Amino acid sequence: MKVLVTGGLGFIGSHTVVELQQKGFEVVIIDDLSNSSKEVLNGIFAITGKMPIFEEFDLKEKSKVEAFFQSHSDICGVIHFAASKAVGESVSEPLKYYENNINTLVYVLKEMTKLETANFIFSSSCTVYGQADELPIMESAAVKLAESPYGNTKQIGEEIIKDTCKVADNLQAIALRYFNPVGAHPTANIGELPLGVPQNLVPFITQTAAGLRKELSVFGNDYPTEDGTCIRDYIHVVDLAKAHVVALERLIEEKSNDKYEVFNIGTGKGSSVLEVIKAFEDVSGEALKYKFAPRREGDVVEAFANTSKSNNVLGWKAELTLKDAMDTAWKWEKKIRNM
Ligand code: UD1
Repeated sequence: MKVLVTGGLGFIGSHTVVELQQKGFEVVIIDDLSNSSKEVLNGIFAITGKMPIFEEFDLKEKSKVEAFFQSHSDICGVIHFAASKAVGESVSEPLKYYENNINTLVYVLKEMTKLETANFIFSSSCTVYGQADELPIMESAAVKLAESPYGNTKQIGEEIIKDTCKVADNLQAIALRYFNPVGAHPTANIGELPLGVPQNLVPFITQTAAGLRKELSVFGNDYPTEDGTCIRDYIHVVDLAKAHVVALERLIEEKSNDKYEVFNIGTGKGSSVLEVIKAFEDVSGEALKYKFAPRREGDVVEAFANTSKSNNVLGWKAELTLKDAMDTAWKWEKKIRNM
């Protein structure tokens, strides 16, 4: 069974390709290499012994999307990761984000409506909840006004898919709302490759420990939490990747309760920034250089998932811990820095 993974050379995409291959799926990747590298293919091959089919193009090229689906009408599903994801950049370049994240989604869905059966998995984000009124956050929680064009593309993306599922008889979809993806493959053959200075916490920590950054700034220590730092639900990328395979199988086996479903993908446990630093120090044996800095604009205080729906309905559960994530992220960082 052949699966298309768009953005399959990215951080979450590449880990998902590995899990798909290990479950016996044949994988075709489309990636424009805008935030990834062809080298990732070798990392995937090193783990699974299988080289995915790779087509390098930008999904904004509508005619290429059409041609792709004409020559691959036998695919049993699409997992759509390809998108831009830098929150700050989305504020300064909103149209880039609407074009990259929305136009491409529309082009892919349009071609999928022409297939006999179309199974679609969408990368969504817990960012759609903003600062939720209740914790842990359930899928039924209100979708809050987006804080950034990036967040807005996830909300609009979900709406586009939901509306299309209503009218396209052949189409069913699942949106996975990820909490904070971290870690790397335990073999250290694939991991996160941030462009420039990392905006996210874990790659900033590992780069600081590797000597690329002077020190970590902890954004805010006066939040109304136990230690004053923000709380997030850090989900190991391998667990997250597995959730995509389970979701795809749910669609293929026609187990869905609805043509469009949404699931939270997190551990259900919140960790503070200081707890993340501590977990890193414990597994690495390194003392991390950090200082407290002012709050970062747009940060919510606390977000962690209620995972009952994903555990009981989807049949997926996170198995790895924050320490596993920090350990694998550190192994990966050391490998790419030849340490
Ligand atoms: C961020 C995005 C979110 C996106 C997600 C994807 C923002 C405001 N939010 O989530 O929309 O879906 O990435 O991965 O950018 N922190 C520090 N110092 C740092 C970096 C982060 O203290 O140098 C803190 C942050 O304040 C936050 C926590 O670490 O409390 C996690 O931050 P980050 O990894 O950027 O994730 P989010 O902000 O949760």
